[in-house]
Amino acid sequence: MKIPQFKSFVDKQDYSSLEKVFENNYIAEGPYAKKFHDQLLDIIGAKYGCFASNGTLAIYLGLKALGIKPGDEILVQNITFIASANAVEMLGATPIFVDIPSFNDLTIDITKIKLNPNTKALIIAHLFGTSCSNIEEVKSYCDENGIFLIEDSAQALAISNSEKHCGTYGKFGTFSFYADKTITTAEGGFVVTDDEVLYEKMLYLRNQGRLKSGSFVHPEIGYNFRITDLQGALGLSQLSKLEKIKITKKNISELYKKYLGNNVTYLSIRDDFNYIPFRVVVFVNDAEKMLNYMVENGIESRSMFYPLHKQPCYKYLKHSDMNYPNSLECYNKGICLPTWIGITEKEIMYVSDILLKGLKLK
Ligand SMILES: Cc1ncc(COP(=O)(O)O)c(C=O)c1O
Repeated sequence: MKIPQFKSFVDKQDYSSLEKVFENNYIAEGPYAKKFHDQLLDIIGAKYGCFASNGTLAIYLGLKALGIKPGDEILVQNITFIASANAVEMLGATPIFVDIPSFNDLTIDITKIKLNPNTKALIIAHLFGTSCSNIEEVKSYCDENGIFLIEDSAQALAISNSEKHCGTYGKFGTFSFYADKTITTAEGGFVVTDDEVLYEKMLYLRNQGRLKSGSFVHPEIGYNFRITDLQGALGLSQLSKLEKIKITKKNISELYKKYLGNNVTYLSIRDDFNYIPFRVVVFVNDAEKMLNYMVENGIESRSMFYPLHKQPCYKYLKHSDMNYPNSLECYNKGICLPTWIGITEKEIMYVSDILLKGLKLK
């Protein structure tokens, strides 16, 4: 049996949504993008939102609008996708990596933070379709210490508790619509905020330093981070399937739990937030060995994120392994299992069976 690590959930309905845009003969950011924007804000519950070309540029856009500049230091969760760090680096600022509290709890351990006058913001990541475990605590910490809280919610669209949605605790929150995200527009990003001034600033920055396209007068220096109406229409079509995506993905995680039982350790998940697994994550003693064994058996799984402090490209920051024991354990043990709409129970059983055999339990 061959099981891919991921398949995008795009279907005929998505395909026909694109036809409508071509019929409209308006393919740049326009009415469909506006409707997609409105529906996203309804789901997220933020006051303002704007698109960026992708989730990485969404983080960059927010940071740039906040005035982050060379010399500033930004705290970044050490286990996350590299985009947070890269967005900081694009601004000429410095990412400072902070360890996680334990190997299966993917958030910033605030007890490990060392502040200095250059520390301007903290980027928390809500990973794998759940909220980070300590968002309230991180928010209070940022407020008390006068630094901005930024939430990378690329993997956390439609993740909320009875009070708040991920991405709405901090100064701004960002989302990604890359092909493997909860909903996709192939590429695409979104920034939300309740701060009107910050929002206005972002509108200028994302559209060549002007508010309206078509004008050649540019009050500010800006860039082009716009999306297309093809993405807008695709996003709307994807959103119409959100309930199905939620139920199906939750079901996949329950099936893995059913077949793997207590033989593996799971990601720590808050039960007051809903959960739409981006990937089902499990922890075993030797992830590398297990990943090789799975590949030998036709299963394409993924490792955990490589700790940012170990990234060859950030070697110049000279972070030492000594400060990141939990990140290292997380990487050495973590495996992301195939979690995509369309995977069958039989395939989940097969993956689980191979995993258990790999553990020498079968
Ligand atoms: C946690 C996280 N942050 C940021 C990004 C960056 O998003 P994009 O690929 O749209 O730039 C991704 C996804 O790829 C991600 O998973």
